[in-house]
Amino acid sequence: MTTSNSAPAGDLTSQVLHKLSTQSPILSSEAFPAATFQDVKAALDRLGSRSMVTYETMEREEALLEPEAEQIAAHGSHEARVFEAVREAMEGLTIQELEQAIGDKTVTKLGQGKAFKEKWISKGKDGKLVATVRLIFLWGGDLICRAEPELTPYVSLLQADSIKDSTRAVLLQVKETKTGDAKALADLKKRKLIKLQKVVTFKIDKGPKFALEIEKEETDLTSDMLSSGSWKTAKFKPYNFRALGSDQNAGALHPLNKVRHEFRQIFFEMGFEEMPTNKFVETGFWNFDALFVPQQHPARDLQDTFYISDPKVADKPRPLVEGQNPEEYWNNVKEVHQDGKFGSIGYKYPWSADESLKLVLRTHTTSISTAMLYKLASQKGPDGRPPPARYFSIDRVFRNETVDATHLAEFHQVEGVIADYGLTLGGLMEFMEVFFGKMGITDLKFKPAYNPYTEPSMEIFSYHKGLGKLVEIGNSGMFRPEMLESMGLPKDMRVFGWGLSLERPTMIKYKISNIRELLGHKVDLGFIERNPAVRLEKE
Ligand code: PHE
Repeated sequence: MTTSNSAPAGDLTSQVLHKLSTQSPILSSEAFPAATFQDVKAALDRLGSRSMVTYETMEREEALLEPEAEQIAAHGSHEARVFEAVREAMEGLTIQELEQAIGDKTVTKLGQGKAFKEKWISKGKDGKLVATVRLIFLWGGDLICRAEPELTPYVSLLQADSIKDSTRAVLLQVKETKTGDAKALADLKKRKLIKLQKVVTFKIDKGPKFALEIEKEETDLTSDMLSSGSWKTAKFKPYNFRALGSDQNAGALHPLNKVRHEFRQIFFEMGFEEMPTNKFVETGFWNFDALFVPQQHPARDLQDTFYISDPKVADKPRPLVEGQNPEEYWNNVKEVHQDGKFGSIGYKYPWSADESLKLVLRTHTTSISTAMLYKLASQKGPDGRPPPARYFSIDRVFRNETVDATHLAEFHQVEGVIADYGLTLGGLMEFMEVFFGKMGITDLKFKPAYNPYTEPSMEIFSYHKGLGKLVEIGNSGMFRPEMLESMGLPKDMRVFGWGLSLERPTMIKYKISNIRELLGHKVDLGFIERNPAVRLEKE
């Protein structure tokens, strides 16, 4: 069945109606044997939506002969053909003569073996192949015994028993009916003589609005119809609420955005406020100095940080809220680095204001957290002191990295900061368990680490079942007193912070092994359009 020899759908609809007017129900396989499934279905859907016909779908299996089986059906089984050829030659046949008579080497070879097995042929005295003739003794019409001729020299030949080619008989029947006894079909299938194919047939009947012609139905109400009044009598096509809408070709969310959305939900759920991160350029002051990162620290090298060449320097920090005196903060930072202050012995080096005013692409979002904490220092809660706060941000950071499968020069950081009185390291570890637990990351391991701005510092690890190993998921710590007191936060206020990349959990979630497939110019737009939504707590 191909589309080319079937009637077009338009014709088929009226063919269906005409057939039904003389006979109902009808079976599509009998009435339209040449039409394809798609054409019949399209015609029936068209008529069905107008209630002109009703139909049921029936599925059945058809047995179809394989080419070899077609041959057997036409000419007999190999063994039968061998038997017939040998029997016809009264004097017997040599193998070459048999081959010639059959005209097919494989048929001869296979058939000969089977015919021997069935004892239909044997080797005569001169070595030629002869048909085994059986004799049947009849007595008054009743069969009384059978015998091989050489054993019964006294009897006369009454009837030559011919062989029964049962394979051919079964195949002929299957060919005609396309079905057969289940055991026989299974056997034929095993011998690769037939294949079973699913066929869908429709049982079609007249519907409540059956007619021979399809009435034209209006699809739109036009202004002409309104002015002429023809809308009153017009027949309108009912809405098809099951039809698929046309493709809207809308934009798609990038996987990073989907994972970001999940992180934001978790932060909001835990009472965090989102920090404004809408600036990529920072001064060395906010990115490094305020965080107690010494000016000789390798992270501040050109190899690690991108510096802005125009303009080269920034102004000194301005008040972030009214009434602040950034000059005091600036001087505190300078003293902490140079000579030590607030109980810190400092780094003991000549601190350079120029270095602090250099402009950089921020290397972490902790620069934003620092500015937020500086703002917090001048806020007053009910007791006149800075109130507890929870801040988070998810945004882009820049590092002068050599780009490879797991590193990019720009990526996204997820960062959280909690400021409160009486925070403890144990409380912080507990908080981490809860926070990561919300995205399905459990059994955390903490490893002592070093950050210039936190003490103690801990790297956070978790066992990843999919990867079968411990993976680092983040970095964390308690901000140092010399950093917090410099900005004017009370001595007993503790601030805990942590950060992780947005890319790593996204890559794990979407099973991406090369970060360049996720971010940058090599990203495949098809991947963005097709990737599924994500739920962090699952899996
Ligand atoms: N800034 C750290 C980083 O880039 C993350 C961090 C934030 C660590 C806050 C401790 C406290 O990895």
